[in-house]
Amino acid sequence: MKARITMLVGGALALAAMPAAAETPLERGTYLMQGPAACGNCHTPITPQGLPIEGQELSGRLVEDNEFFTAYAPNITPDTETGIGGWTDEQIITAIREGKRPDGSIIGPPMPMGLYRGISDSDAKAIVAYLRSVPPVKNEVPKSTYRIPLPPAYGPPVGEVADVTPGVTAEYGAYLAGPVAHCIECHTPMGERGPDFENRLGAGGFEFHGPWGVSVTSNLTPHEDGLAGRSDEDIAKMITTGTRPDGTPMLPPMGYNYYANMSPEDVKAIIAYLRTLPPQPTPQ
Ligand code: HEC
Ligand code: HEC
Repeated sequence: MKARITMLVGGALALAAMPAAAETPLERGTYLMQGPAACGNCHTPITPQGLPIEGQELSGRLVEDNEFFTAYAPNITPDTETGIGGWTDEQIITAIREGKRPDGSIIGPPMPMGLYRGISDSDAKAIVAYLRSVPPVKNEVPKSTYRIPLPPAYGPPVGEVADVTPGVTAEYGAYLAGPVAHCIECHTPMGERGPDFENRLGAGGFEFHGPWGVSVTSNLTPHEDGLAGRSDEDIAKMITTGTRPDGTPMLPPMGYNYYANMSPEDVKAIIAYLRTLPPQPTPQ
Protein backbone atom coordinates (compact mmCIF):
# COMPACT_ATOMS: atom_id res chain seq x y z
CA MET A 1 0.00 0.00 0.00
CA LYS A 2 2.99 2.31 -0.29
CA ALA A 3 2.85 3.43 -3.90
CA ARG A 4 1.65 6.93 -4.51
CA ILE A 5 -0.89 7.63 -7.21
CA THR A 6 0.40 9.62 -10.13
CA MET A 7 -0.66 13.23 -10.21
CA LEU A 8 -2.54 13.86 -13.43
CA VAL A 9 -2.41 17.63 -13.17
CA GLY A 10 0.99 18.91 -12.13
CA GLY A 11 1.09 21.44 -9.35
CA ALA A 12 -2.29 20.68 -7.81
CA LEU A 13 -0.65 19.64 -4.57
CA ALA A 14 1.34 22.82 -4.23
CA LEU A 15 -1.78 24.83 -5.00
CA ALA A 16 -3.76 22.97 -2.39
CA ALA A 17 -1.97 24.90 0.33
CA MET A 18 -3.20 28.21 -1.13
CA PRO A 19 -6.63 29.73 -0.55
CA ALA A 20 -9.38 27.86 -2.41
CA ALA A 21 -10.07 30.86 -4.63
CA ALA A 22 -6.67 30.44 -6.31
CA GLU A 23 -7.57 26.99 -7.57
CA THR A 24 -9.55 26.03 -10.64
CA PRO A 25 -12.34 23.46 -10.07
CA LEU A 26 -10.22 20.84 -11.85
CA GLU A 27 -7.22 21.52 -9.59
CA ARG A 28 -9.41 21.32 -6.49
CA GLY A 29 -11.11 18.18 -7.81
CA THR A 30 -7.77 16.54 -8.57
CA TYR A 31 -6.55 17.25 -5.07
CA LEU A 32 -9.74 15.94 -3.45
CA MET A 33 -9.97 12.80 -5.60
CA GLN A 34 -6.30 11.84 -5.39
CA GLY A 35 -6.17 12.90 -1.74
CA PRO A 36 -8.78 13.07 1.01
CA ALA A 37 -11.93 12.02 -0.93
CA ALA A 38 -10.21 8.86 -2.24
CA CYS A 39 -13.26 7.74 -4.24
CA GLY A 40 -10.87 5.50 -6.15
CA ASN A 41 -10.30 3.47 -2.99
CA CYS A 42 -13.62 1.81 -3.90
CA HIS A 43 -14.08 2.70 -7.58
CA THR A 44 -10.62 1.84 -9.00
CA PRO A 45 -9.67 -1.79 -9.75
CA ILE A 46 -6.80 -3.03 -7.56
CA THR A 47 -4.02 -5.59 -7.77
CA PRO A 48 -4.07 -8.58 -5.37
CA GLN A 49 -1.74 -6.46 -3.20
CA GLY A 50 -4.40 -3.73 -3.02
CA LEU A 51 -2.69 -1.19 -5.27
CA PRO A 52 -4.69 0.81 -7.85
CA ILE A 53 -4.21 -0.63 -11.38
CA GLU A 54 -2.73 1.93 -13.73
CA GLY A 55 -4.86 2.91 -16.72
CA GLN A 56 -8.06 1.71 -15.04
CA GLU A 57 -8.70 4.59 -12.67
CA LEU A 58 -12.32 4.76 -11.46
CA SER A 59 -13.51 2.03 -13.87
CA GLY A 60 -15.19 0.00 -11.11
CA ARG A 61 -14.74 -3.19 -9.09
CA LEU A 62 -16.32 -5.53 -6.56
CA VAL A 63 -15.98 -3.79 -3.20
CA GLU A 64 -17.83 -5.95 -0.73
CA ASP A 65 -19.46 -9.36 -0.66
CA ASN A 66 -21.13 -10.13 2.67
CA GLU A 67 -24.40 -11.54 4.00
CA PHE A 68 -26.24 -8.27 3.31
CA PHE A 69 -25.02 -7.39 -0.18
CA THR A 70 -22.69 -8.02 -3.08
CA ALA A 71 -21.68 -4.47 -3.94
CA TYR A 72 -19.90 -3.40 -7.10
CA ALA A 73 -18.63 0.17 -7.29
CA PRO A 74 -19.65 1.16 -10.84
CA ASN A 75 -17.48 2.50 -13.63
CA ILE A 76 -17.52 6.29 -13.11
CA THR A 77 -15.18 7.19 -15.98
CA PRO A 78 -16.58 9.29 -18.87
CA ASP A 79 -17.13 6.21 -21.06
CA THR A 80 -20.64 6.69 -22.47
CA GLU A 81 -21.54 2.99 -22.69
CA THR A 82 -20.17 1.49 -19.47
CA GLY A 83 -19.45 4.64 -17.43
CA ILE A 84 -21.23 7.91 -16.63
CA GLY A 85 -20.19 9.90 -19.73
CA GLY A 86 -23.85 10.42 -20.66
CA TRP A 87 -24.82 11.98 -17.32
CA THR A 88 -25.11 15.76 -16.83
CA ASP A 89 -23.12 17.53 -14.09
CA GLU A 90 -26.33 17.89 -12.06
CA GLN A 91 -27.10 14.19 -12.39
CA ILE A 92 -23.62 13.23 -11.19
CA ILE A 93 -23.87 15.60 -8.21
CA THR A 94 -27.30 14.16 -7.31
CA ALA A 95 -25.86 10.65 -7.46
CA ILE A 96 -22.96 11.60 -5.17
CA ARG A 97 -24.88 13.67 -2.61
CA GLU A 98 -28.37 12.15 -2.70
CA GLY A 99 -27.61 8.57 -3.75
CA LYS A 100 -30.06 8.74 -6.63
CA ARG A 101 -29.30 7.86 -10.29
CA PRO A 102 -30.82 9.66 -13.29
CA ASP A 103 -33.31 6.76 -13.68
CA GLY A 104 -34.46 7.35 -10.08
CA SER A 105 -32.90 4.16 -8.65
CA ILE A 106 -31.17 4.33 -5.26
CA ILE A 107 -27.43 3.80 -4.77
CA GLY A 108 -26.75 1.29 -2.01
CA PRO A 109 -23.98 0.83 0.56
CA PRO A 110 -21.12 0.89 1.21
CA MET A 111 -21.00 4.24 -0.65
CA PRO A 112 -21.14 6.59 2.38
CA MET A 113 -24.34 8.38 1.38
CA GLY A 114 -25.26 10.04 4.67
CA LEU A 115 -22.00 11.96 4.87
CA TYR A 116 -21.75 12.86 1.18
CA ARG A 117 -24.88 15.03 1.62
CA GLY A 118 -22.54 17.51 3.29
CA ILE A 119 -20.09 17.93 0.36
CA SER A 120 -20.16 21.64 -0.55
CA ASP A 121 -21.54 22.80 -3.91
CA SER A 122 -18.14 23.95 -5.10
CA ASP A 123 -16.40 20.73 -4.01
CA ALA A 124 -19.12 18.64 -5.70
CA LYS A 125 -18.53 20.62 -8.92
CA ALA A 126 -14.77 20.19 -8.51
CA ILE A 127 -15.21 16.42 -8.19
CA VAL A 128 -17.31 16.41 -11.37
CA ALA A 129 -14.60 18.41 -13.17
CA TYR A 130 -12.11 15.71 -12.21
CA LEU A 131 -14.45 12.86 -13.23
CA ARG A 132 -14.76 14.51 -16.66
CA SER A 133 -10.97 14.68 -16.95
CA VAL A 134 -10.04 11.03 -16.40
CA PRO A 135 -9.61 8.83 -19.48
CA PRO A 136 -12.79 6.92 -20.40
CA VAL A 137 -12.36 3.20 -19.72
CA LYS A 138 -14.63 0.59 -21.27
CA ASN A 139 -15.40 -1.79 -18.43
CA GLU A 140 -18.78 -3.41 -17.88
CA VAL A 141 -19.25 -3.81 -14.12
CA PRO A 142 -21.93 -6.26 -12.87
CA LYS A 143 -24.92 -4.84 -10.98
CA SER A 144 -24.87 -5.03 -7.18
CA THR A 145 -27.36 -7.20 -5.35
CA TYR A 146 -28.83 -6.16 -2.01
CA ARG A 147 -30.33 -8.70 0.36
CA ILE A 148 -31.47 -5.82 2.59
CA PRO A 149 -34.07 -3.21 1.61
CA LEU A 150 -32.68 0.12 0.39
CA PRO A 151 -34.44 3.30 1.57
CA PRO A 152 -36.66 5.13 -0.95
CA ALA A 153 -34.35 8.16 -0.45
CA TYR A 154 -31.56 9.24 1.91
CA GLY A 155 -33.40 12.44 2.80
CA PRO A 156 -34.94 15.50 1.17
CA PRO A 157 -33.13 17.11 -1.80
CA VAL A 158 -29.79 18.49 -0.62
CA GLY A 159 -30.20 22.03 -2.00
CA GLU A 160 -27.24 24.34 -1.49
CA VAL A 161 -24.24 23.50 0.69
CA ALA A 162 -21.85 26.34 1.54
CA ASP A 163 -18.07 25.91 1.69
CA VAL A 164 -16.30 25.51 5.03
CA THR A 165 -13.37 27.94 5.01
CA PRO A 166 -10.15 25.92 4.56
CA GLY A 167 -7.56 26.28 7.31
CA VAL A 168 -5.93 24.42 10.17
CA THR A 169 -9.14 24.50 12.22
CA ALA A 170 -11.22 21.80 13.88
CA GLU A 171 -14.18 23.06 11.86
CA TYR A 172 -12.48 22.43 8.51
CA GLY A 173 -11.07 19.17 9.90
CA ALA A 174 -14.63 18.07 10.70
CA TYR A 175 -15.63 18.78 7.10
CA LEU A 176 -12.68 16.76 5.78
CA ALA A 177 -13.08 13.85 8.22
CA GLY A 178 -16.84 13.77 7.60
CA PRO A 179 -18.32 14.70 4.21
CA VAL A 180 -15.07 14.60 2.20
CA ALA A 181 -13.04 11.64 3.49
CA HIS A 182 -15.69 9.79 5.57
CA CYS A 183 -13.01 8.83 8.15
CA ILE A 184 -15.74 8.80 10.78
CA GLU A 185 -17.91 6.41 8.75
CA CYS A 186 -15.33 3.63 9.09
CA HIS A 187 -14.20 4.68 12.56
CA THR A 188 -17.63 4.66 14.28
CA PRO A 189 -19.30 1.44 15.40
CA MET A 190 -22.59 0.49 13.74
CA GLY A 191 -25.85 1.25 15.46
CA GLU A 192 -29.21 -0.01 14.33
CA ARG A 193 -29.42 2.47 11.47
CA GLY A 194 -25.86 2.91 10.26
CA PRO A 195 -22.86 4.33 12.13
CA ASP A 196 -23.80 5.50 15.64
CA PHE A 197 -22.48 9.08 15.25
CA GLU A 198 -24.71 10.35 18.02
CA ASN A 199 -23.37 8.19 20.86
CA ARG A 200 -20.06 6.68 19.75
CA LEU A 201 -18.54 9.06 17.19
CA GLY A 202 -15.00 7.95 16.32
CA ALA A 203 -14.87 5.12 18.89
CA GLY A 204 -13.73 2.53 16.31
CA GLY A 205 -14.33 -1.19 16.60
CA PHE A 206 -15.84 -1.67 13.15
CA GLU A 207 -14.62 -4.85 11.39
CA PHE A 208 -13.54 -5.32 7.78
CA HIS A 209 -13.08 -8.76 6.29
CA GLY A 210 -10.94 -9.21 3.18
CA PRO A 211 -8.04 -11.10 1.63
CA TRP A 212 -5.93 -9.62 4.47
CA GLY A 213 -8.06 -11.32 7.14
CA VAL A 214 -9.88 -9.09 9.59
CA SER A 215 -9.03 -5.47 10.30
CA VAL A 216 -10.72 -3.48 13.04
CA THR A 217 -10.95 0.30 12.91
CA SER A 218 -9.01 2.13 15.60
CA ASN A 219 -10.49 4.41 18.22
CA LEU A 220 -9.77 8.00 17.06
CA THR A 221 -11.14 9.79 20.14
CA PRO A 222 -8.87 11.39 22.79
CA HIS A 223 -9.54 8.40 25.14
CA GLU A 224 -6.67 6.21 26.40
CA ASP A 225 -8.09 3.46 24.14
CA GLY A 226 -7.73 5.94 21.29
CA LEU A 227 -5.28 8.68 20.34
CA ALA A 228 -4.63 10.10 23.85
CA GLY A 229 -1.06 8.83 23.93
CA ARG A 230 -0.19 9.64 20.30
CA SER A 231 1.63 12.79 19.18
CA ASP A 232 0.27 14.82 16.24
CA GLU A 233 3.35 13.74 14.24
CA ASP A 234 2.69 10.04 14.85
CA ILE A 235 -0.98 10.39 13.93
CA ALA A 236 -0.08 12.28 10.74
CA LYS A 237 2.42 9.59 9.80
CA MET A 238 -0.10 6.79 10.34
CA ILE A 239 -2.70 8.53 8.18
CA THR A 240 -0.38 9.37 5.30
CA THR A 241 1.95 6.35 5.26
CA GLY A 242 -0.15 3.50 6.68
CA THR A 243 2.70 2.64 9.01
CA ARG A 244 2.52 2.61 12.82
CA PRO A 245 5.21 4.43 14.86
CA ASP A 246 6.80 1.02 15.65
CA GLY A 247 7.19 0.42 11.90
CA THR A 248 4.44 -2.18 11.42
CA PRO A 249 2.29 -1.69 8.32
CA MET A 250 -1.42 -0.97 8.84
CA LEU A 251 -4.12 -3.10 7.21
CA PRO A 252 -6.60 -2.19 4.44
CA PRO A 253 -9.11 -0.86 3.56
CA MET A 254 -8.08 2.63 4.73
CA GLY A 255 -6.94 4.66 1.68
CA TYR A 256 -3.38 5.35 2.84
CA ASN A 257 -1.95 5.74 -0.67
CA TYR A 258 -4.52 8.49 -1.38
CA TYR A 259 -4.07 10.19 2.00
CA ALA A 260 -0.34 10.32 1.18
CA ASN A 261 -1.29 13.14 -1.21
CA MET A 262 -3.07 15.23 1.44
CA SER A 263 -1.56 18.61 2.24
CA PRO A 264 0.11 18.82 5.67
CA GLU A 265 -2.39 21.58 6.57
CA ASP A 266 -5.37 19.35 5.85
CA VAL A 267 -3.86 16.50 7.89
CA LYS A 268 -3.33 18.97 10.77
CA ALA A 269 -6.93 20.18 10.48
CA ILE A 270 -8.21 16.59 10.74
CA ILE A 271 -6.03 15.92 13.79
CA ALA A 272 -7.25 19.19 15.39
CA TYR A 273 -10.81 17.93 14.87
CA LEU A 274 -10.07 14.44 16.27
CA ARG A 275 -8.69 16.09 19.42
CA THR A 276 -12.13 17.71 19.98
CA LEU A 277 -14.13 14.45 19.88
CA PRO A 278 -15.76 13.32 23.14
CA PRO A 279 -13.42 10.63 24.61
CA GLN A 280 -14.94 7.15 24.27
CA PRO A 281 -13.74 3.67 25.19
CA THR A 282 -13.43 1.23 22.29
CA PRO A 283 -16.61 -0.86 22.04
CA GLN A 284 -16.10 -4.49 23.11
C1 HEC B 1 -16.85 2.66 0.32
C2 HEC B 1 -16.87 2.53 -1.11
C3 HEC B 1 -17.24 3.73 -1.96
C4 HEC B 1 -16.71 5.00 -1.89
C5 HEC B 1 -15.68 5.54 -0.92
C6 HEC B 1 -17.33 5.75 -2.95
N1 HEC B 1 -18.21 4.97 -3.64
FE1 HEC B 1 -19.37 5.55 -5.22
N2 HEC B 1 -20.32 3.77 -5.18
C7 HEC B 1 -19.96 2.67 -4.42
C8 HEC B 1 -20.86 1.58 -4.70
C9 HEC B 1 -20.80 0.19 -4.09
C10 HEC B 1 -21.79 2.06 -5.66
C11 HEC B 1 -22.94 1.28 -6.29
C12 HEC B 1 -24.00 0.89 -5.32
C13 HEC B 1 -25.14 0.20 -5.98
O1 HEC B 1 -24.90 -0.68 -6.81
O2 HEC B 1 -26.30 0.54 -5.70
C14 HEC B 1 -21.41 3.44 -5.94
C15 HEC B 1 -22.07 4.26 -6.87
C16 HEC B 1 -21.59 5.49 -7.31
C17 HEC B 1 -22.16 6.26 -8.39
C18 HEC B 1 -23.33 5.84 -9.27
C19 HEC B 1 -22.80 5.25 -10.57
C20 HEC B 1 -23.74 4.38 -11.35
O3 HEC B 1 -23.47 4.15 -12.53
O4 HEC B 1 -24.71 3.88 -10.78
C21 HEC B 1 -21.41 7.40 -8.51
C22 HEC B 1 -21.59 8.53 -9.53
C23 HEC B 1 -20.39 7.34 -7.49
N3 HEC B 1 -20.52 6.17 -6.78
C24 HEC B 1 -19.42 8.32 -7.29
C25 HEC B 1 -18.55 8.34 -6.19
C26 HEC B 1 -17.71 9.45 -5.84
C27 HEC B 1 -17.56 10.72 -6.65
C28 HEC B 1 -17.08 9.12 -4.68
C29 HEC B 1 -16.14 9.97 -3.83
C30 HEC B 1 -16.63 11.29 -3.45
C31 HEC B 1 -17.50 7.78 -4.32
N4 HEC B 1 -18.40 7.35 -5.25
C32 HEC B 1 -17.04 7.07 -3.22
C33 HEC B 1 -18.93 2.63 -3.49
C34 HEC B 1 -18.17 3.72 -3.07
C1 HEC C 1 -12.53 2.35 4.63
C2 HEC C 1 -12.42 2.47 6.07
C3 HEC C 1 -11.52 3.54 6.64
C4 HEC C 1 -11.47 4.88 6.31
C5 HEC C 1 -12.29 5.63 5.27
C6 HEC C 1 -10.51 5.48 7.18
N1 HEC C 1 -9.95 4.54 8.01
FE1 HEC C 1 -8.54 4.88 9.46
N2 HEC C 1 -8.37 2.90 9.80
C7 HEC C 1 -9.15 1.92 9.21
C8 HEC C 1 -8.72 0.62 9.72
C9 HEC C 1 -9.33 -0.72 9.33
C10 HEC C 1 -7.67 0.86 10.62
C11 HEC C 1 -6.86 -0.18 11.42
C12 HEC C 1 -5.73 -0.69 10.57
C13 HEC C 1 -4.92 -1.73 11.30
O1 HEC C 1 -5.29 -2.15 12.40
O2 HEC C 1 -3.86 -2.12 10.77
C14 HEC C 1 -7.48 2.31 10.64
C15 HEC C 1 -6.51 2.96 11.43
C16 HEC C 1 -6.39 4.33 11.58
C17 HEC C 1 -5.46 5.00 12.46
C18 HEC C 1 -4.44 4.33 13.40
C19 HEC C 1 -4.75 4.68 14.84
C20 HEC C 1 -3.98 3.87 15.84
O3 HEC C 1 -3.59 4.43 16.85
O4 HEC C 1 -3.82 2.66 15.60
C21 HEC C 1 -5.65 6.34 12.31
C22 HEC C 1 -4.93 7.48 13.00
C23 HEC C 1 -6.71 6.51 11.32
N3 HEC C 1 -7.14 5.27 10.91
C24 HEC C 1 -7.22 7.73 10.92
C25 HEC C 1 -8.07 7.89 9.81
C26 HEC C 1 -8.39 9.17 9.21
C27 HEC C 1 -7.93 10.52 9.72
C28 HEC C 1 -9.18 8.91 8.13
C29 HEC C 1 -9.74 9.89 7.11
C30 HEC C 1 -8.78 10.76 6.46
C31 HEC C 1 -9.39 7.47 8.09
N4 HEC C 1 -8.71 6.89 9.12
C32 HEC C 1 -10.19 6.84 7.16
C33 HEC C 1 -10.20 2.12 8.30
C34 HEC C 1 -10.53 3.34 7.70
